[in-house]
Amino acid sequence: MSPPMPLCFVRRGALAPLGATAADLPAATAAALGEVLPLLGCGEEAASLAFAAMAANRRLAPAAAAALAAIARDEAQHDALLKGLLAALPAPADPEPVLAAAQAMHVSLGRTLITGRLARVAGLDSAVCLILARVLRRLPAASDTARVLRRIHADEARHVAIAGNIAAGMGVMTALKDEAAHARALLVAVIGHVGAAFDGLGVEPDRLRRDLARLPAGLFAA
Ligand SMILES: [Fe+2]
Ligand SMILES: [Fe+2]
Repeated sequence: MSPPMPLCFVRRGALAPLGATAADLPAATAAALGEVLPLLGCGEEAASLAFAAMAANRRLAPAAAAALAAIARDEAQHDALLKGLLAALPAPADPEPVLAAAQAMHVSLGRTLITGRLARVAGLDSAVCLILARVLRRLPAASDTARVLRRIHADEARHVAIAGNIAAGMGVMTALKDEAAHARALLVAVIGHVGAAFDGLGVEPDRLRRDLARLPAGLFAA
C-alpha cells in the first residue's frame, strides 16, 4: 500500500490510514465533515512534527522529553486516523485556501523557543478539544467517525495537561497565556475558511470562534 499523501507537511515514516467508514452518517453531515476534518488533519501532521522536535530539546528533563515523544506518537496515530476518515468522506470542494492558511499558521507558530512553543501547542490542542466536543454533539454517537473523534479528543485533553504542565515549569504564567492566546487567535482566523461547513454540522461558527478566542481556566496549572 502506498503511504498516504500529506495534507500539509511531509513526514518520513507516515502511518497508513486506519480503516473507517462514513456510511453511518447522514450525507450532509459527511459532506460538512469532509470540509472540516482536513483542517484538523493538517494540525495533526504539524503536531506530530512539533512534538518530535520538542522532545529532542536539551533543556528538557528526561521524563518531560519522554512524555513529549509519546505525544508525537499519538499525533502520528491521529494523523493516520483522520486520513482514514477523510478517505471515506466526500472530498472538500476547494481545500487549498484552508490548508494553505493552516499550514502558514503552523509554520509561524513553530518559530519560537520551546517554552513558547509548548504554550502555543497547549492553546491549540485545548482549542481542538473544544472543536471536537462541539462536533461530537452533532454526530451519531455509535458512528465510526464519532468513535475516532472521541479517541482523539481524549488524547488531546491529555496532551493539553502534559504540555501545559511542562510549560508551567519553564515559563512565566502571563507570557504562557499570551502565547496560547496568540495561537488561538490565529486558529480563529483559519476557522473562518470553513465557517459554512461548521454551520452545516450544526456547530454555530460565530459562537465557536468567540469561545475559541477565550483561554480555558487552569490551562497552565502545574
Ligand atoms: Fe492530535
Ligand atoms: Fe495533540
